[in-house]
Amino acid sequence: MDIGDVRRIAVIGAGTMGAGIAQTCAAAGFEVSMRDVEARFVEGGLRRIREPLEARVSKGKMAREDVDAVFRRIRGTVDLAEALDGAQVVIEAILEKMDLKRALYAEMDRLGPPEVVFASNTSSLSITEMANATSRADRVIGMHFFNPAPVMKLVEIIRGSETSDATVRLARDLCARLGKEPVEVKESPGFVVNRLLVPMLNEAFNLLQEGAARAEDIDKAMKLGTNMPMGPFELGDYTGLDVALDVMEVLHRETGDPRFRPSPLLRKYVRAGRLGRKTGRGVYEYGPE
Ligand code: CAA
Repeated sequence: MDIGDVRRIAVIGAGTMGAGIAQTCAAAGFEVSMRDVEARFVEGGLRRIREPLEARVSKGKMAREDVDAVFRRIRGTVDLAEALDGAQVVIEAILEKMDLKRALYAEMDRLGPPEVVFASNTSSLSITEMANATSRADRVIGMHFFNPAPVMKLVEIIRGSETSDATVRLARDLCARLGKEPVEVKESPGFVVNRLLVPMLNEAFNLLQEGAARAEDIDKAMKLGTNMPMGPFELGDYTGLDVALDVMEVLHRETGDPRFRPSPLLRKYVRAGRLGRKTGRGVYEYGPE
């Protein structure tokens, strides 16, 4: 299949990443089906797309007709078969749990015609293991977007053990159509960005636990000392501390290397439900948005 054959993209998962990816695809002119398991999650995803776009209209940065056009191209659903109907590419962005992903891939493999390409937005799990739940391992690939997906330029393209060159080419061409820059990475824990970024966030929690500096000062130091747009705690709260902990667990489990040990303080925050902006409290407290 060529990029010219791709008209509809099914995005599975309407959380922060799924909604952002659906928006990115619709803004690039693709028809999009966005599926989640419950109607309230689908509605949440649509709201996550609408609010920042409305804000851009209010600021005069985007025309109302363009926002409406993006919305007209997105169809929300809870039905997996309906989501896959007519789609040439699926981008999966569900919870980072391998057993859930494998069950979904097996189901999608039954529902979708054999030529449909499955791309996972996983931030650190094995593409090979997901592909092995299907009968089309050559057409399963990783396309890892970054939060906020409509804004961040990078997509990591991850080649699983069986991924074909044609599938890699399609993913690269899709990135070009989405206005994204791809970087190709062989399958390895955390790929490039999370292998480097998340241990840095984790180490910030170790510093905080040691009492070396206040959270605000650690963030300030990294912003002013390295020109990061957000300090490690602001970024952790923004992407979700549970996401950071999941990545550390994968790095630690897959490599067995003690330098990837999750910070006890990070783990404690996640256990307390302090997941960041999405729960109103992470390292920092957030009022209603
Ligand atoms: N849809 C469309 N546009 C959006 C948007 C959205 N959802 N969110 C923001 N924007 C636009 C804004 O409208 C604004 O556009 P203009 O410049 O035209 O006005 C622009 O993006 C910047 O947004 P803001 O002015 O609201 O805010 P900002 O300048 O402070 O930037 C930020 C916000 C882009 C998030 C910036 O702080 C940043 O780059 N932070 C770091 C993000 C990062 O590192 N992400 C990667 C996380 S790691 C990850 O995702 C991987 C993983 O697996 C864990």
